[in-house]
This record gives sequence, structure tokens and C-alpha cells, in this order.
Amino acid sequence: MKFSKFGQKFTQPTGISQLMDDLGDALKSDQPVNMLGGGNPARIDAVNELFLETYQALGNDGSFREDINSTATSSMANYSNPQGDAAFIDALVGFFNRHYDWNLTSENIALTNGSQNAFFYLFNLFGGAFTDEKSESVDKSILLPLTPEYIGYSDVHVEGQHFTAVLPHIDEVTHDGEEGFFKYRVDFEALENLPALKEGRIGAICCSRPTNPTGNVLTDEEMAHLAEIAKRYDVPLIIDNAYGMPFPNIIYSDVTLNWDENTILCFSLSKIGLPGVRTGIIVAAPEVIAAVSAMNAVVNLSPTRFGASIATPLVKNDAIKDLSDNDIKPFYQQQAKTAVTLLKKELGDYPLVIHKPEGAIFLWLWFKDLPISTSELYETLKEKGTLIVPSEHFFPGVDISDYKHAHECIRMSIAADEDTLAKGIAVIGEVVRKLYDEAK
Ligand SMILES: Cc1ncc(COP(=O)(O)O)c(C=O)c1O
Repeated sequence: MKFSKFGQKFTQPTGISQLMDDLGDALKSDQPVNMLGGGNPARIDAVNELFLETYQALGNDGSFREDINSTATSSMANYSNPQGDAAFIDALVGFFNRHYDWNLTSENIALTNGSQNAFFYLFNLFGGAFTDEKSESVDKSILLPLTPEYIGYSDVHVEGQHFTAVLPHIDEVTHDGEEGFFKYRVDFEALENLPALKEGRIGAICCSRPTNPTGNVLTDEEMAHLAEIAKRYDVPLIIDNAYGMPFPNIIYSDVTLNWDENTILCFSLSKIGLPGVRTGIIVAAPEVIAAVSAMNAVVNLSPTRFGASIATPLVKNDAIKDLSDNDIKPFYQQQAKTAVTLLKKELGDYPLVIHKPEGAIFLWLWFKDLPISTSELYETLKEKGTLIVPSEHFFPGVDISDYKHAHECIRMSIAADEDTLAKGIAVIGEVVRKLYDEAK
């Protein structure tokens, strides 16, 4: 069978397809797998209980059936309009205005089928071929101010890959008073000198905060600087809050979240524990919301209402925020501590440095001068039943052939239970020690 160029582009092997396949295979496998590779959220009892209660209540509240005594229509038995479930959008408007002084209206929010779906829309809206004022064609890209960045961005452009990315400053830092950590910072000098930025070939700036894969949290100063650059060049600043504030709030550093009409905030229900309901939320200027709604109509007719129905009461009564602050965030903070302790025990005397854990559900490990690339390390670990993700997938828009650092790191999920975490880290320790020892 012959596929179109579009078909060929979307069926070629990609980092994200490898990752999702590994994740699915591990869940199906009858052999024990130490799954430190995927982006699945952890099983947290308090979270599961609340969702189960809400889910059970859904069955009795008319969501699946028209109530002859009510004028309300049942959410599950009807499509919403392409912008998304109106009751959830209203609840979100109330929620964000209660917690931030953003003065949102329902024209500022659209829903998507997961935030991955939102990035597909947004990167194709703001990256790719444009016609400028002189009717000439301009190819614009999405500026990633700090790579490594989220693997899932890499292949979403309908045509080619349109990223311009900046490599980070690497600062050695301490964490909880201990040595052996580093933190990435935006290289603003390199960013401001990018020809693509100066010549109008950037369509939007985007960063995840906390960042997948590293757990880095861009500081408020860095965000303010990015917002200023975005305004100066008249492009939107897209902030991916998949792990950020106010839910799931897996963020340990003391930072704030801002919004204005030049900012596009993306949220998701996935990392609070509902990745299967595929619900993404976009907060943006009405013009962007109208564009996303139009794309929803073509691609999905209307976005799924299931996640919206589960989350509406939790957003109305702030349970989603309480759950994030009191259960989800402390859980991952403890997991990060446990994983760091185990890693230091296994590899404390070896050249391992860890990105300062500031949020998200991963640790980012840098094996300085590792004798093999981490893509090769990934294969060896996979043979031993331990899955991680090698760093080379996390540099969209960068030619990493001569950038050693991009071949020396791995992303390790900390969402697994303690036993899996300990077993997986023991395997990583054993393999990596041997590699360094044999190279001596
Ligand atoms: C940084 C980041 N953004 C977006 C997504 C997409 O999430 P979803 O489509 O489940 O909302 C993920 C998923 O892992 C992520 O890590």
C-alpha cells in the first residue's frame, strides 16, 4: 500500500512511538519489567479513591441519561460544541479566577483530547509555512528556549520538523546540602542572537514547566524574560503545565504562574492520575480558542466529555487542588528523595550527576564520559528488564551529532512503586558500574 507524504511522515518510527510501544508492551508482558521508562502517573490510593467516588456518582447524576424533570442535557449522550464541555469550561473559569487574578471568561478556554492533541494544533498553527505581508512564503519554527525538552513535541508538525532550539547553560548545584547535582538555565545570550528570531522566522516560544524530561523548573525571572521576548517579537509564549500549577502541582521550587493574552497555558488531567480520559485544557486569548475550536471540529467533531464530567465537581469544589497539594505533590517529592538515595548508594563513587529534582515525575541522570551512548545503554538495560529513555530523543531541533552531553543522559520515571524503583536502580547501578570499571 502506498501512503501519502503525510502518511509517510506520521508512520515513520519516532521516539514517541518507541516509548509508547515499550510502555504498552511492559504493561502486557508476563515477565517482570522494571518500568522506569514511561510517562504514566503513579497509583496513589487517595487519588484513585476520589476518582472512583466521582466516577460512581456520575452514573447517578444524569450524565448518561436525560432527566425528564430537568432542562439539562446529559453530557455523555450528546456531543459538546467543538470548544468542549460547557459546564467544565465554566467550572474552570471560576476555578482559575478564584486562584489567580486572570479575569478569564469562557472565551478563554478550550478543551482537547489530551494536551498532546493541543500541541499538535498549536505547533501547526504557529509553526510551518506562512505568507508574509509581501505575499512571500516564510517558514516559521517553534522556539524551544531550553532543550532537553519533551519528546512528544518532536514529530507533531504536519510537514517536516519546525523547531529552533537553544542548548542550556549547565550549572553545578547542591541539593538538600549535597553535592552531585546540576541545573539547566536558559542561555539568553544565545537565544537573543538567534538569526531565526531576529529575522521573523519564529512563530511561537514554548517550554514545559516543570520540564519533561529533566524535572527542571524555569525560574520566575527566566519566565518573565521569555514573556518579554515573546511580546517584543509579537509571538505567543506557550507554557506546558502538564506537571505544573495548580494541578497536578508536582513542583517543589517556589515559583508563580502568570497568564496574559500573549500567553497560552496548556493543562492536562493526565498527571493527576487520569491519562486514560484524554483531557487537555488550553487557556488563551479568544482568537486562539476560536482557532482550536475550529480544529477540534475538523479533527474530533468535539472533544471527549468523559474527563470533563469527572473533573467538573472536583474543579468546582477545589478538590483537584487539595488533592494535588496534599497527596500528589508530596508523593512525588518523597519518590524523588527515595530514588536519589538509591542512586547515590549504587553510583555514589562514579561520575553520576543528577539534575536537581524540582518537579515532574522523572529524574534526569547524567553519566559523565560514559564509554557508550545512552541509546546503547538503553538496549542493555532493556535486555535486563529495565526500561528508561535515552537522552538523544529530547533534543528536537538540535543537531546533536557533536554534542556529547545529549548522548550521556537518561530519563528515569519515579512513578513506579518502591520495589520496582529499587530493582530498576539496582540494574542501572550494576550495568553502569561495569561500563566505567571496564573502561579504566
Ligand atoms: C510535558 C508534557 N506535555 C504534554 C504531555 C501530553 O500529555 P497528555 O496528552 O496526556 O495530556 C506530556 C505527557 O507525558 C508531557 O510530559
